[in-house]
Amino acid sequence: MADKSDRSKQEKNKERLTNRQGHPVTQNQNIRTVGNRGPGTLENYDYIEKISHFDRERVPERVVHGRGAGAHGYFEAYGKIGDEPASKYTRAKLFQEKGKRTPVFVRFSTVIHGTHSPETLRDPRGFAVKFYTEDGNWDLVGNNIKIFFVRDAMKFPDMIHAFKPDPVTNIQDPERFFDFCASSPETFHMVTFIHSPWGIPANYRQMQGSGVNTYKLVNDDGKAVLVKFHWEPNQGIKNLTQKEAEEIQGQNFNHATQDLYEAIEEGNYPEWELYVQIMEDGEHPELDFDPLDDTKLWPEDQFPWLPVGKLVLDKNPDDYFAEVEQSAFGTGVLVDGIDFSDDKMLQGRTFSYSDTQRHRVGANYLQLPINRARTEVNTNQEGGNMRYEVDREPSKNPAINYEPSILGGYEEAEPYGKDHEPYVEGNLTRESIDRTSNTKQAGETFRQFEEWEKAELISNLVNDLSVCDQRIQDRWMELAEEADEEYGLRLREGLEKAKNGMDDSSRGPIGNTSASEATEKAEREGHEADPY
Ligand code: HEM
Repeated sequence: MADKSDRSKQEKNKERLTNRQGHPVTQNQNIRTVGNRGPGTLENYDYIEKISHFDRERVPERVVHGRGAGAHGYFEAYGKIGDEPASKYTRAKLFQEKGKRTPVFVRFSTVIHGTHSPETLRDPRGFAVKFYTEDGNWDLVGNNIKIFFVRDAMKFPDMIHAFKPDPVTNIQDPERFFDFCASSPETFHMVTFIHSPWGIPANYRQMQGSGVNTYKLVNDDGKAVLVKFHWEPNQGIKNLTQKEAEEIQGQNFNHATQDLYEAIEEGNYPEWELYVQIMEDGEHPELDFDPLDDTKLWPEDQFPWLPVGKLVLDKNPDDYFAEVEQSAFGTGVLVDGIDFSDDKMLQGRTFSYSDTQRHRVGANYLQLPINRARTEVNTNQEGGNMRYEVDREPSKNPAINYEPSILGGYEEAEPYGKDHEPYVEGNLTRESIDRTSNTKQAGETFRQFEEWEKAELISNLVNDLSVCDQRIQDRWMELAEEADEEYGLRLREGLEKAKNGMDDSSRGPIGNTSASEATEKAEREGHEADPY
């Protein structure tokens, strides 16, 4: 029988260190040994539990977007899409009522390098949003730039291999990057953004976001329109010159994570407005691009940005690993009223995300608090590593883990509205789309850049291309000339100067205005950027 002093020890121990079995840890400084200098013993459970858990602290990092920062918040709907009631286009419940709030978790990221790489690198930034809606989760897995490098999912692994470090030296190499890109001319528009200041957003709060791929909105009648989603920061947009990025990196390689965390701790909650661009469902032969081609912008004058709601981030995670690292977003995670289009990248991505997450986090990754829906989840799934939730409900005959059944279990749900059932026909084929138009929009983007952005673009391209094989340089120059005369001329001039040693190629005078002159001008103006 426990005496009084045992009971008071037990009370105190409730708040003290234990192992995972709930045993009090009374010695956490020394392993168990034979004598205080003798060999260790193998039955030392506390030590073995501690060290073997430590040995498993890491899960594999994301194959891309390894470095990230996250925050919680909410999405507030305007009840409208532009001037029309939201229901005209979509029956998705989160958009219907003005002021309706849906909880969200957002993860921002860089793409190519690992979990502790600098946040100043030239790279797209990920902008992934998980909406915990009343109809289950919706993930909008986007980037800061509104287009992408390639338009067919088949090319994604090659592209990432070329952008990641060389498999022999483990060094990232611009020649590999430009070898792939020059051989894949659809990358030209995206590289025009990435090598401009748009390739280094100043932080996560002052950047745009975009779903990039084309989705569909579906209304109650099962009628669909094509849609693109974009986030516009209420903090304004700010991008960095290469020089500024290098200065920040020299002092702080976590600056974007720190900026986001501190802003939220200080109650300075970042906000973005969600906009959609809408197009009638169809091939649109009148356009010089295919609406399902993710290397293209939808011109704003023809497809205006229509506001639908706002996002506010107001809470930092309590635990980075549990919430940010283990979060799992995917393009297949849609709710009723939002549907897939035939965008080939979207289709390819949709398989990839949950596939990698079953490997990265585990078969039951959707049971983790950060990933699980905040609605009832009633599946007949069984087992798998680390399963701890049981969906079967006692009142429904808990032994029935199959459907259909006369004896109990869960029944199929009622559909919400008319299904969207597009008619599809054609030969099964492996072919590119017809309207590729690889450089036209890149020329338009170049012409919209301010002078300091153009100068940075040329300087950054010269810096990287000048170490590439001449054949790669020639191919890239042809694309630049095709896009825009000035673009082509300035790039050719810069590369020739670099070759003749007249320029250190990274900071010297290129074209009419030197990158450094333009940078100084930008510094004076604080380089707030206009959205494209
Ligand atoms: C076929 C093309 C693509 C494939 C196969 C692909 C595949 C992947 C994979 C495997 C991950 C790691 C996911 C994880 O471990 O949880 C990932 C992450 C991510 N991808 Fe893609 N991706 C593709 C294109 C894109 C595009 C076009 C965008 C931008 C719209 C994008 C945005 C993201 C983001 C933001 C993340 C990080 C999500 C997070 O924060 O956890 N990806 N992608």
